Amino acid sequence: MADDVTVPPAAASEASVAPGVLRAREALKDVPHEPGAAKPDPILVADSVVRRFGGLTAVSVDHIEIQRGAITALIGPNGAGKTTFFNLLTGFDRPDEGEWKFNGSPLAGVPAHKVAKKGMVRTFQLTKALSRLSVIDNMRLGGTGQKGESFWRSLVPGLWKKQEQEITERADDLLKRFKLDAKRADFAGSLSGGQRKLLEMARALMVQPDMVMLDEPMAGVNPALTQSLLGHVKSLREDGMTVLFVEHDMDMVRDISDWVIVMGQGKVIAEGTPDTVMADPRVIDAYLGSHHDGTEHDSAEVAAEVPGASSVDEPAAASSPAASASPAAAPATEKAVSDKPASDKPEGGKADE
Ligand SMILES: Nc1ncnc2c1ncn2[C@@H]1O[C@H](COP(=O)(O)OP(=O)(O)OP(=O)(O)O)[C@@H](O)[C@H]1O
Ligand SMILES: [Mg+2]
Repeated sequence: MADDVTVPPAAASEASVAPGVLRAREALKDVPHEPGAAKPDPILVADSVVRRFGGLTAVSVDHIEIQRGAITALIGPNGAGKTTFFNLLTGFDRPDEGEWKFNGSPLAGVPAHKVAKKGMVRTFQLTKALSRLSVIDNMRLGGTGQKGESFWRSLVPGLWKKQEQEITERADDLLKRFKLDAKRADFAGSLSGGQRKLLEMARALMVQPDMVMLDEPMAGVNPALTQSLLGHVKSLREDGMTVLFVEHDMDMVRDISDWVIVMGQGKVIAEGTPDTVMADPRVIDAYLGSHHDGTEHDSAEVAAEVPGASSVDEPAAASSPAASASPAAAPATEKAVSDKPASDKPEGGKADE
């Protein structure tokens, strides 16, 4: 079906397209649109990763490759296993089975702080900024345990001081870049939801990672800050970083991602460029679940209901099953789709103002 649909590097001829975008599109142009597709230069390769919670298999990924230097979106309905997969890959949880390599180095069994040291960092669906620490201290904390840091080096006071200074300088640079410098001395707890998301992304960059994994970076963020967050994610690609992000808002996915991987019930069910994936009946089925029995709608009708598909006249809320997915409001279940009307996923209960 959708495998034969190739999306042209739409703006390849436009001078305005950033080099990172062109590089990523070029690299991915011959990759088949199918689950587990091999990539020309994968930074992350995972095999047979399984995580069970009692009788529930939350993650069962046969094979996945993430292309270096590209922005890959990981999408899927509530409870598909996206966060669990992130937790496994970054050492915050242990799988029942499986192995994966980052930059060629095996990571199974490697704890989270060492994963970060190897250059792979993640942010959380619910932000983890320490609210009783100042913004700058949160940043400094993010800078410890960075790549190349050695215990012995840290014992030499001169070097240690110099490193402290470097960390603070880098923290201040990043705060400026993320327009949080005015909040430097404030408690992180006093920031709005959107600003906390920015802080978390800025903090993740303190370790100068090769790959950044963002779990719903836009959730609960007010539209004014959304654009700035999107801009930051895009700039990571321009800086040569690899981004893997989970997002329910399909307009955002379409806007920033070079490649999309879809999870459903723990498995990778589709892969491809945003346009291809969003027109894929398997994806539509996964999102619409019981709404779509496969007989009463033809695929064009269903495609029109799918996130980001053309001819959406209704408010995004009603037409986008993905956007309606709200784990905070409805704990994830095995049911593929939520019946709830769309609302921004609250982050810690309240959206950014
Ligand atoms: N610690 C846990 N104990 C038991 N079940 C869990 C645990 N963590 C996750 N699950 C279950 O595993 C499944 C996958 O959950 P996960 O949070 O990974 O989904 P998700 O794709 O991130 O969903 P969402 O889009 O809602 O954030 C769900 O059925 C969830 O209830
Ligand atoms: Mg999640």
